Amino acid sequence: MRIFSGIQPTGQIHIGNYLGAISQFVQLQEKAECIFSIVDLHAITVPYNPQELSKNIFDAAVCYLASGIDPEKSILFVQSWIKEHTELAWLLSTVTPTGDLLRMTQYKEKSKQLRDAKAGLLNYPILMASDILLYKAEAVPVGQDQKQHLELTRTVAKAFNSRFGETFPVPRVILRESGDKIMALNNPKKKMSKTAPSGCLYLFEEPEAIKKKVMASVTDSGKKVKYDLEKKPGISNLLTIYSLFSGKPIKELEKKFKNSNYSSFKKSLAEQLIVSLEPFRRKKKELLTREVYVREVLRQGAKRAKVIAASTMAEVRQKMGLA
Ligand code: AMP
Ligand code: TRP
Repeated sequence: MRIFSGIQPTGQIHIGNYLGAISQFVQLQEKAECIFSIVDLHAITVPYNPQELSKNIFDAAVCYLASGIDPEKSILFVQSWIKEHTELAWLLSTVTPTGDLLRMTQYKEKSKQLRDAKAGLLNYPILMASDILLYKAEAVPVGQDQKQHLELTRTVAKAFNSRFGETFPVPRVILRESGDKIMALNNPKKKMSKTAPSGCLYLFEEPEAIKKKVMASVTDSGKKVKYDLEKKPGISNLLTIYSLFSGKPIKELEKKFKNSNYSSFKKSLAEQLIVSLEPFRRKKKELLTREVYVREVLRQGAKRAKVIAASTMAEVRQKMGLA
């Protein structure tokens, strides 16, 4: 099975990114052919700073590697280095219904925030479909917020196949049963998001900051440590995080904290997180001193990605009568 997924090089990775997406990548690379991309061309669809972007691309590579992506097992590369992504995106735009693009929740939300949204933001999901289809990926691990984009990718794949003949597998989404939507620590009604840093707990956070953020996290006025998404979204979010990092089922945690107040539950969660995140911090520090190695991983990754991309493009051009 071939897997593809991407993460934007926009700032630090938070535990939502890790639990929703990257931890799945790390497991999948043991049993499938995995291709992971730092999708810089997606990151430029909203206002950005060019100097920061190039630094963020390198940083994203370090973070991917530090969080367990193994370049011996997976292909890791930078999207913009492979020109076929943009070429295929253009070709796929000719079979993508405009109405579908206008209906995308992410587009609607972001364009509202920006007021003068550009065409790149509207076309974002076509580029994402092109990332996936270029490698003929069969499955795509992502967090819940990307599910709708995946649906569109399926629509595009089917439209292309029916117009030009069987070419792309119709990829399925892989979502984590729990952890596909980690909520912000300061507002459990909103998902943890890079665009709202105050609600984020970062994967490479220092112990002091972890303690502070977890202790200050927003919960409800009740007393019981119990999973209840409706009435206790804050505690439920913390229980999900605790469970995923400790490997203990939520039921077991509820039992363990049956007689505890929120504060001692949070203290214990902070301790768990400090221990669980320590290896990531250590690995990141080490990788930051090995710049040549990290750049070489990206170079090799692009070389391998290019072979697949070029072969798909030759087929697509021929099928579309462009050869
Ligand atoms: P992004 O940071 O938007 O590039 O997202 C990278 C990956 O992390 C995507 O697969 C997202 O679906 C996933 N993701 C982002 N935020 C969360 C969250 N709060 N909970 C779970 N997964 C998330
Ligand atoms: N849109 C995704 C996000 O913001 C990132 C992404 C780009 C992606 N191309 C992809 C994810 C292809 C999966 C597959 O999270």
